[in-house]
Amino acid sequence: MTTSEAIRHRRSVRTFDDNTLNAEILEQLLNFARAQTNPYDIPISWFLLDAAKHGLRSPVITGEHTYMTGKLKKVPHGEEAFGYSFEAVLLYAETLGLGSTWIAGTMNRGAFERAVSLQEGEAMPCVSPIGFPASKMSLRETLMRKGVRADSRMDFRALFFRDDWNTPLSEQEAGALRGPLEMVHLAPSAVNKQPWRVLVQGDKIVFFEKRSKGYVGADGWDLQKVDLGIALAHFDLAAREAGLMPSFTPAESRDLNEDGLVEIGTFVCINPDRQ
Ligand SMILES: Cc1cc2nc3c(=O)[nH]c(=O)nc-3n(C[C@H](O)[C@H](O)[C@H](O)COP(=O)(O)O)c2cc1C
Repeated sequence: MTTSEAIRHRRSVRTFDDNTLNAEILEQLLNFARAQTNPYDIPISWFLLDAAKHGLRSPVITGEHTYMTGKLKKVPHGEEAFGYSFEAVLLYAETLGLGSTWIAGTMNRGAFERAVSLQEGEAMPCVSPIGFPASKMSLRETLMRKGVRADSRMDFRALFFRDDWNTPLSEQEAGALRGPLEMVHLAPSAVNKQPWRVLVQGDKIVFFEKRSKGYVGADGWDLQKVDLGIALAHFDLAAREAGLMPSFTPAESRDLNEDGLVEIGTFVCINPDRQ
């Protein structure tokens, strides 16, 4: 399964089959995670945790025995780095047939933070259950998906633009970037808000964050930047797979610009329209 196939196949899984995972598959996952880098070169420590041993729970998840998470220092760009790396890991899990769900809120966070010995100055932004999906979704899962309209995404032309914000870009007009941008379109985000906006300017693909209210903590830590990290991973991995040789430069400023957006960073791809 390619990464793009894993992205198309992925959905949040909240109902698991109640089986424990064998040591071999857990080790495979942990080794993959430990080998991950991210465009910010921010180190992340990874954990696979036994739910019963640590008393880990999420009211929206059933039939799970294992959770995965990571922790990192609260440094600038930590959110994007975590989003990028954890999504790469969860997409790898998908290729192994394992289901997952990004969880930032619906969990007994204290128990998770104790399980990873979270220290002052560190963050554990999100966790995910890991296991084989049950054959049928629980009623709660079905209702949750309806609640956030999890099966739909905003119109492509409301998210992707060419040259300026007055010129929406359609899938058909995206040329060689169509595949990687479709992968961004399919990305998961907190409450399915899809806070990414992308401007294509020649061979530059510039990512922005359109903030919703209520996601930035008192310390400035911004959950929607985790969503942006996920989108960067989807673009980067799919563009690499398509031979576009993307290279990424983070934006210098983290402030809202005159359009009310935060610039996140720019990919340059090799001759995207001449491929
Ligand atoms: C950063 C982040 C945080 C999330 N937090 C939660 C959460 O606390 N509880 C939950 O049930 N789902 C959570 N989700 C899952 C989203 O609701 C889900 O990705 C979105 O509705 C799209 O559905 P899909 O993943 O099935 O495509 C989170 C997703 C992301 C990316």
